[in-house]
Amino acid sequence: MNPDTFAAGQPLGEFATIREEAPVSWYPAPGTSGDGFWLVTTRADIEEVSRQPDVFSSYERGTIISADTFGQPEEQLQTMRLLMLNIDPPEHSHLRNIVQRAFTPRTIRSLEPQLTEFAHQIVDRALAQGAGDFVEDIASEMPLLALCELMGIPNADRAKIFELSNRMVGFDDPEYQTSPADGQVASMEMYVYADELAAEHRANPKDDIISRLLRAEIDGDNLTSEQFDVFFLLLAVAGNETTRNAISHGMQAFFDNPEQWEIFKTERPLDTAAEEIIRWATPVMHFQRTAMRDYVLGGQQVSRGERVLLMYTAANRDGAAIAEPDTFDVRREANPHVAFGGGGPHFCLGANLARAEVRIMFDVLADRIPDITPTEPPRALRSMFINGIKRMPVRYPAT
Ligand code: HEM
Repeated sequence: MNPDTFAAGQPLGEFATIREEAPVSWYPAPGTSGDGFWLVTTRADIEEVSRQPDVFSSYERGTIISADTFGQPEEQLQTMRLLMLNIDPPEHSHLRNIVQRAFTPRTIRSLEPQLTEFAHQIVDRALAQGAGDFVEDIASEMPLLALCELMGIPNADRAKIFELSNRMVGFDDPEYQTSPADGQVASMEMYVYADELAAEHRANPKDDIISRLLRAEIDGDNLTSEQFDVFFLLLAVAGNETTRNAISHGMQAFFDNPEQWEIFKTERPLDTAAEEIIRWATPVMHFQRTAMRDYVLGGQQVSRGERVLLMYTAANRDGAAIAEPDTFDVRREANPHVAFGGGGPHFCLGANLARAEVRIMFDVLADRIPDITPTEPPRALRSMFINGIKRMPVRYPAT
């Protein structure tokens, strides 16, 4: 439960031992009487839980677990339950059907030329600098631009969205100089921004995603303003930090495995490489569920009301599901990872967008900065939830 454990890197060795010796095991939460969680570490068990939302609820105690979660005030949980992430079917299915309109494969494909254009602009700036921080210059730019493009956010507001989404998530790390309270202030600011955006679109409907979400045009259903504001907040968190870290970890994986960078540059296995980068990074380390009835999981008796923690980081190195899981292989064909969740109703809504961003960013990097080199070791984010790289000094040599 201690973020410091992860600031030193992912405890993959410990996870491997746990997965082999006690793949579903109980961990008491410090300072509580009887609370704790079942740690779930295999791919099969994560899938079993994720695909049975009637047995394993996202609503009952929310999906986010941290040291503060235990003894969390009811009102905080109520706020979390505004997010679709923390709602169960059938209410969840209703919301998901509406927001899915913004994420159809066709919509995402139609964004690709613009994403490619963004990747070139990002690289132009990096090359002009000659050296810098990969996280700031490259990895964080792409998701932000992609999200703003998808949602039709005006250019002038992009820096503000970036700053707010950083403050909303990074509060466990002292370097961001924020606190959980500041995280909440940032969330409120984002909420207010979304509300203004919705009001603007209601007054002047356009042919864009926001108007489509707000207008009852497809199946007579739409989001209320409040639902839109909350969804926007979720996108800002879910879409930025995650994809940024996939890109940063991907670059680091190429630095650590230069032969894979060579293969990538010459063969361009774009789809398999994007998938492997996302598995390798596993930017979201875990989500929790709560058992709604007694259930035997991985041979363990899970009792009604107990928490179950789906440790995606551990499952993505599960040799029973993934061949040679500790090898970074950009040509990997079968790659049933759980970085986007173990399937079921909450499977990452933005998965195809994230894949496109990663694919396009590395394709353009390979074309235009093939000799990119690290100049200092990367610095990890202090977080027990996001597998993050905070800083990654590099050189951008011109070809
Ligand atoms: C590599 C990048 C990403 C990773 C690793 C990731 C991971 C995840 C995971 C693990 C879940 C929960 C799955 C579950 O509970 O079964 C999730 C849900 C979600 N993600 Fe992503 N995500 C990424 C990118 C994105 C992007 C780019 C967006 C949007 C622009 C996005 C939007 C969402 C939303 C809205 C949900 C909630 C879906 C629901 O509750 O039905 N994600 N994501």
